[in-house]
Amino acid sequence: MAITSTHPILAACRREQTPYTPVWLMRQAGRYMEEYRKLRAEHEFLDLCKSSDLAAEITVTPVERLKVDAAILFADILLLLEPMGVGLEYTKGDGPVIQNTVSSRTHVEQLIEFDPAEALPFVFETVRKVCTALNGKVPLIGFAGAPFTLASYLVEGGSSRNYLKTKRLIYSNPGAWRGLMERLSSLTAKYLNAQIAAGAEAVQLFDSWAGCLSPEDYERFVLPHTRATITGLTPGVPVIHFSTGTGGFLKSLRAAGGDVIGVDWRVNLDTAWDDLGHDVGIQGNLDPAALLASPKDIRRRVAEILRRAGGKAGHIFNLGHGVLPETPVENVIAMVEAVHELSSR
Ligand code: CP3
Repeated sequence: MAITSTHPILAACRREQTPYTPVWLMRQAGRYMEEYRKLRAEHEFLDLCKSSDLAAEITVTPVERLKVDAAILFADILLLLEPMGVGLEYTKGDGPVIQNTVSSRTHVEQLIEFDPAEALPFVFETVRKVCTALNGKVPLIGFAGAPFTLASYLVEGGSSRNYLKTKRLIYSNPGAWRGLMERLSSLTAKYLNAQIAAGAEAVQLFDSWAGCLSPEDYERFVLPHTRATITGLTPGVPVIHFSTGTGGFLKSLRAAGGDVIGVDWRVNLDTAWDDLGHDVGIQGNLDPAALLASPKDIRRRVAEILRRAGGKAGHIFNLGHGVLPETPVENVIAMVEAVHELSSR
């Protein structure tokens, strides 16, 4: 405990000065890695998530390989939806599919109630095994989808371009929407608290698709529910609140909560931080596609983000979204090295 609680990534969450800028990557465990592709060739994605030995191995491998400052739990935001009885599948090429979509209050009421600690035991087993394997070297970050992003999958049945079904439900049936969001926000808090109880030392809430909303709709239909999730979390454990495409309403994201706000590459880090206020941490924000450039160019882009962060306490380096499957692993290693070297103080 004593070793990891002073770890740079946790110190940065508390906006304390660190000897260098800590760095990790969203989707650091994934298809761009040969080790993962090998396991994936033999097992379905859901089976990997449900086997705590394999999930723990997949979580720990990139920490050793990339020399990042945190592990991110190998799981998926949609695992929490499966026990609701909606029929979750990952189909090749099409991404995740939800069979029984939600479009009315009746559908919301039909969602099965469950206790995440009981329904998803493999997740917490993975957390415990990862913590044992890491042995205090770096902290484990747990995660969950934020209520809006989870709801969007339940309503759309998968990923979407315009989120029209979701918006139609919000506008035409605000009562059903509220009911759905209340269910998801309390479920998410319980799920994250169980990850924390099992050993996660920080948590990230992914609101990946919140950027499809107008600032007004975010404030009215999403913010109160994300805030309820974050308020329901075990005190003292840092929360990273991440979204993409939300540069136009960062203040509202901040108002929903989080010790650190994760931003994508569509905003400059310095203007985003000014906007958020310097009494909150910031995470980001290299374009994942920049990792397709040469190591020299990657280094220049890393330097530019560090320059914008200005060495201020509270910056965690990350991509603006997940690592792309096409990314050469050497470029990821070069990026992590560049962050550590160029930020050393
Ligand atoms: O390394 C890590 O970051 C930890 C593991 C992780 C996964 N998904 C594994 C995964 C995390 C943190 C997630 C979060 C997640 N899942 C989000 C939020 C982050 C984001 O990317 O916006 C979302 C929206 C999902 C839902 C999801 N899961 C989608 C849309 C897809 C298909 C698209 C894709 O990238 O393949 C998944 C599948 C998924 N989740 C894979 C992995 C490694 C690929 C599965 C495979 O091997 O085929």
